[in-house]
Amino acid sequence: MGYRIVVAGATGNVGREMLNILAEREFPIDEIAVLASSRSQGDMVDFGDTDRQLKVQNIEYFDWAGWDIALFAIGSEATAVYAPKAAAAGCVVIDNSSLYRMDPDVPLIVPEVNPDAIDGYTRRNIIANPNCSTAQMVVALKPLHDAATIKRVVVSTYQSVSGAGKQGMDELFEQSRNIFVGDPAEPRLFTKQIAFNVIPHIDVFLDDGFTKEEWKMVVETKKIMGPKIKIVATCVRVPVFVGHSEALAIEFENEISAVEAQNILREAPGIMLIDKREDGGYITPVECVGEFATFVSRVREDPTVENGLILWCVSDNLRKGAALNAVQIAELLGRRHLKKGDMIEDGANFDDAADDDADD
Ligand SMILES: NC(=O)c1ccc[n+]([C@@H]2O[C@H](COP(=O)([O-])OP(=O)(O)OC[C@H]3O[C@@H](n4cnc5c(N)ncnc54)[C@H](OP(=O)(O)O)[C@@H]3O)[C@@H](O)[C@H]2O)c1
Repeated sequence: MGYRIVVAGATGNVGREMLNILAEREFPIDEIAVLASSRSQGDMVDFGDTDRQLKVQNIEYFDWAGWDIALFAIGSEATAVYAPKAAAAGCVVIDNSSLYRMDPDVPLIVPEVNPDAIDGYTRRNIIANPNCSTAQMVVALKPLHDAATIKRVVVSTYQSVSGAGKQGMDELFEQSRNIFVGDPAEPRLFTKQIAFNVIPHIDVFLDDGFTKEEWKMVVETKKIMGPKIKIVATCVRVPVFVGHSEALAIEFENEISAVEAQNILREAPGIMLIDKREDGGYITPVECVGEFATFVSRVREDPTVENGLILWCVSDNLRKGAALNAVQIAELLGRRHLKKGDMIEDGANFDDAADDDADD
């Protein structure tokens, strides 16, 4: 016996990865429906590397009754319309938009970090997936927090254009091509030229001068890991297609050496430590594309604070930052609550995935 699964936003960056990951992890599926807007009705999408192709249905006319789990990746506006309909029909929504993340009645879950919070899903039949930058960061922070209690984190992000959807990837491609042939590289989605540039601005500005992306990293981390952690972020868009990178400066209550942190991270769920302190002995975003793991490199002690570490953290934002985390939540929900089929255990597949990490 398996599940009746819906993927909403199946034509988008995150939706396509959801289909890949459901297939790769052999999620026990009895039936699958793929949805998008009227623009894509009737289009065919691949179900991972299998020979199966699935026909896209228009979400407007979809009957949610009898479906077990819906993985949503359609943006906040459309989610506000369709998630309540799905949830009311008894289909558990796992949402990638920011709409429900801070709703106290909706659990915000990263399975390696706060799996027990999933039990609260029954209040609204909705579970939220964090922002891509938050997801990979908390996977790296959690085992260190358990060992030495984190007081404060200063994070700078280097976020790929795929975090802004298909349009973001198209803009980087088109601007790069235009610059090579001498044509103007006009910004459309991004506020300034993104090709051969970096932009210290993601999402809208707030009154205090931070951007909403920076605010999300703060409030989501507190919701997932506890309100005591102080965190301050600078979020930057960089001309990379897929893979978000982060430089983290972490201050602890208790002493922790770089070697102790490396040993902890080596064993931690969802993490692959690549930290050789030599040329190329660290991970970069192009190497993490298509991988399950959150990679950590360059762990070192911070000589400017009492108990401080600095590290580099990279992950595929379409996977751990969105689609993989959503599928892991579905697996957790299945194992703990719905119990309709055998699920892969948390952390499984990471070692296999890392075996071929170097040249992807
Ligand atoms: N990219 C990331 O790293 C990332 C990380 C975390 C969370 N997210 C979130 O995931 C969601 C999707 O992001 P994405 O990167 O996959 O965007 P995308 O590549 O632009 O894809 C958007 C998807 O949403 C569908 N859609 C848009 N408006 C719709 C509507 N009114 N009704 C039904 N479907 C609609 C699109 O269908 P059509 O093809 O028919 O237009 C497409 O399938 C967003 O909420 C985003 O914030 C993204």
